[in-house]
Amino acid sequence: MCGIVAYKGNKDCHPILLDGLKRLEYRGYDSAGTACNHNGKLVVTKCRGKVADLERILKSRKIYSDCSGSGMAHTRWATHGEPNRKNAHPHVDQSGKIALIHNGIIENYITLKKFLKNKKIKFNSDTDTEVLVQLIGYFYNKVGLDFEESVRASLQRVDGAYGIVVLNSDEPDMMIAARSGSPLVLGIKDHEFFLASDISPIVKYTKQIIYLDEKEIVVLKGDNYDIKSVDTNLSLSKEIKIIDHKIQDFEKGNFDYFMHKEIHDQNYSITNTLKGRSNDHDILLNGLSKYWNDIKETNRIYITACGTSWHAGLIGKNIIEKFAKIPVHVEYASEFRYNDTILDNKTVVIAISQSGETADTLAAVNKANDAGAITVGICNVPGSSIARATDCGIYTRCGHEIGVASTKAFTSQVVILYLFCLKLASSRKTIDVKTTLTGFFKDFSNLDKDVEIVLRKEKYIRKVALKYKNASSFLYLGRGLNFPIALEGALKLKEISYIHAEGYPAAEMKHGPIALVDKNMPVIFIVPKDKTYNKILSNIEEIKSRKGKIISITNSKSKRLKDLSDDLILLPNVSPYLFSLLATIVLQLFAFFIAVAKKRDVDQPRNLAKSVTVE
Ligand code: F6R
Repeated sequence: MCGIVAYKGNKDCHPILLDGLKRLEYRGYDSAGTACNHNGKLVVTKCRGKVADLERILKSRKIYSDCSGSGMAHTRWATHGEPNRKNAHPHVDQSGKIALIHNGIIENYITLKKFLKNKKIKFNSDTDTEVLVQLIGYFYNKVGLDFEESVRASLQRVDGAYGIVVLNSDEPDMMIAARSGSPLVLGIKDHEFFLASDISPIVKYTKQIIYLDEKEIVVLKGDNYDIKSVDTNLSLSKEIKIIDHKIQDFEKGNFDYFMHKEIHDQNYSITNTLKGRSNDHDILLNGLSKYWNDIKETNRIYITACGTSWHAGLIGKNIIEKFAKIPVHVEYASEFRYNDTILDNKTVVIAISQSGETADTLAAVNKANDAGAITVGICNVPGSSIARATDCGIYTRCGHEIGVASTKAFTSQVVILYLFCLKLASSRKTIDVKTTLTGFFKDFSNLDKDVEIVLRKEKYIRKVALKYKNASSFLYLGRGLNFPIALEGALKLKEISYIHAEGYPAAEMKHGPIALVDKNMPVIFIVPKDKTYNKILSNIEEIKSRKGKIISITNSKSKRLKDLSDDLILLPNVSPYLFSLLATIVLQLFAFFIAVAKKRDVDQPRNLAKSVTVE
């Protein structure tokens, strides 16, 4: 969703801001803009479209290389008001002195707008954001508060979520930022400061980071920074964290697309997730140790998440119920937060989120916390809101994911759920610890090589994918562990190729979707050689007799399956748990090659955002 980057220092701000915006492009956006303080005036530049369009405009202006000091930039993902220049950020107050960029939503904007209109303030956009800058301007120009007080007084009156940066041409040596509900990080390097909605625009310059917490405001003045509480105005002492990301983690390397790179990253990212998390006889999840005695005694688990992370949750349910014998409910976070879910201090609520910033998942965690449940985060981004809001957690450690369509984060989430499940099962003695753990680690010991074998098949997967690129609809079918994989495969295809696709449990398709099947309908079957194998073959026969096109992903070399399939992608003969991960990679590549062939914007598909920070 919207991206924020701001710079305060003595270098030319525009090259830094544009570089930052490019690194934030992955979040998804439809317009972009900048503002800087220049010779006592605010200069605002904005446009609908891409950062490249904004860059062209800026480079044609003298200001591009003539503005050292403070500047800020924004990519907007429209919520209130169409994506156009007028609604793009920064927004400026009526006096033209104060400019603001904002991530989040001001929920009481209608009331505030009415109040400001009564004070004869005119509005220039259809956004909720403009209300906030006009309110700051009102306190500053009409009430006579100073700049910092005006920002704080305004923030105390807004409901909703915000990550903001504010400039004032009367105070060229100041920059103010604040957060509540939308992430904001401060990067510090000697006499320079960087603010951004995530660390990606900052790592190039500094590794010293402060994560702002809820309702915190940072005032940058001269060479100093002061972080305070929005409500109490008390200065806070905040820890500076040293991050260990490398700039290469944020670049495409030899690949044309981040998504392609991230699919390939899985030949080490999954192993990275596993590293250091076991010894000969135990699974080590240190992030949970403080709460483990309570977690292992639970009698009900909820898993809550959105999108791809929710699919990982379905796999979690399957294995936790199988091995640890605890009932698990998997709920979309957007439903969980409003449902009458039964929660108490014995319930464990696991929130899965790559970004750790998804608004619905965060709200679900807050609800679970309020009810006294034990909350566990499975996140990829250290220091993210969900990682901090949960009682305890496990990081997926798969590296930064930039492609909007989640790939390597999913496989790492699944691996974390395997680990969690086995630890739970061994603590509860519902498995034969020695045999099960030994078996698990033996299976996973060859993982990198197995993933590599699948990645080496990508030319063949591409060939199969291209055969079906003009289909208008796909069915993805699997059973057990592979039903969530079918859902995930279908989601990948629709997100990045804009082709309709649905995932179903293989046998369930008889109860409706089979009506769609004709000679033009490709049906992807995930067919592991396990106890459901013969059942799936019958499901394939059912589709075949209605002339559907069969694409099988399997580790079976059976002639019958080969004969029934129009195309067959053969995977290494691995355990069912590994098979699902390998099948996922095939489906990621399948969707990727179709999307590229259809010339889609693979890394930033239309209408989508990498972290959905609004409800
Ligand atoms: C799909 C995708 C989304 C996310 C969802 C949750 O490829 O990326 O469905 O999985 O928006 O995001 P996180 O995991 O960041 O909470």
